[in-house]
Amino acid sequence: MKKDTEVSLFEAFETKNLKLKNRIAMAPMTRSRAIGSIPNDLMAEYYSQRSSAGLIITEGTSPSPNGLGYPRIPGIYTKEQVEGWKKITHAAHEKGAKIFIQFMHTGRIAHPANFAHEGKVLGPSAVQADSDMWTDESGMQSIPEPEAMTEDDLKKTIAEFSQAAKDAVTAGFDGVELHGASGYLLEQFLNPHVNVRTDQYGGSIENRIRFVLEVAESVANAIGAEKTGIRLSPFNTFNDMPAYEETPETYTKLVEGLNKLDLAYIHLVEGFARDHKKGPGLLNVLSEKFDNLVIVNGGYDRESAEKALKEGRADLVAFGAPFISNPDLPRRLQENIPLAEADKSTFYSADEKGYTDYAFSKN
Ligand SMILES: Cc1cc2nc3c(=O)[nH]c(=O)nc-3n(C[C@H](O)[C@H](O)[C@H](O)COP(=O)(O)O)c2cc1C
Repeated sequence: MKKDTEVSLFEAFETKNLKLKNRIAMAPMTRSRAIGSIPNDLMAEYYSQRSSAGLIITEGTSPSPNGLGYPRIPGIYTKEQVEGWKKITHAAHEKGAKIFIQFMHTGRIAHPANFAHEGKVLGPSAVQADSDMWTDESGMQSIPEPEAMTEDDLKKTIAEFSQAAKDAVTAGFDGVELHGASGYLLEQFLNPHVNVRTDQYGGSIENRIRFVLEVAESVANAIGAEKTGIRLSPFNTFNDMPAYEETPETYTKLVEGLNKLDLAYIHLVEGFARDHKKGPGLLNVLSEKFDNLVIVNGGYDRESAEKALKEGRADLVAFGAPFISNPDLPRRLQENIPLAEADKSTFYSADEKGYTDYAFSKN
């Protein structure tokens, strides 16, 4: 990326592999409307409403029965799920948006009561998260201790990711975003307090980044590196991820490895990094180390997004919560139309209220 004072959030953006109508991405957001873990018509309507984004990144979606830790999140490991997603990719494409699916394997952040099919709560090590989780069956529950993944579990999980990636392309997705952020399976491998393995997947930085790189490589081999992106959240502590000294070195080495794989993009969630004294410096290092696209996210508005683009810190800016309550967010940003506030109480409820009933601006 170069400094470019002419660049606009609202103009079309084109690379060899991706053609977007603007530089606005809709950030991945779990909305828990996938009853039975199968994408449905209501979800198609929701994404269709938000298809003025150049790029939609879907809610976290499990590539494995073991990765579906929360209630009513979708999967992409059965035929019915793949069929359900077709409605959504079709709806987005009809309105001219590109759409990537986020692969979220929840790893140790899971309760078996939420699994839609038989599954196991897995993690790099048997290190339990000190967190509670909602289950539709019996309300709030503490999260159980995960089973430490065996070599066989690692191989199977990598195969699930690459199979799901092929199925995502069959379902019409333009690509896949690997969820390497927010304390889910991939990030669990990076953190030395959560990953205490003594084999080649734990200990040194090279070992802790190995699983993430292997997953990324297998997905890239399955569908093409140009269709594979990854989300990272350096310094994240959400989901009981204790801070660790080697964060900058870990992410620098990881991004060097991802860059060698020639992935389409890295998507940096800035919140925790921005608040950390070494964070902003690290974000710049990561952006500079990566040759393809950089997406940034976390608390952006029109002004800060345009600044990030013009300073060359990002190619695209992702917006999360503002897209929940403003289905026509790009137009509102462009025309300075006031934004509606999102109702947090319906973020994860099960029906259309607080989901598809937010108004488009009449201005
Ligand atoms: C309701 C809700 C659900 C979210 N679910 C996900 C998710 O599934 N995957 C993910 O990577 N981030 C998820 N996030 C984080 C957002 O993608 C984004 O990083 C965060 O909202 C900060 O961006 P913002 O300030 O533009 O909202 C979620 C955020 C919200 C508000």
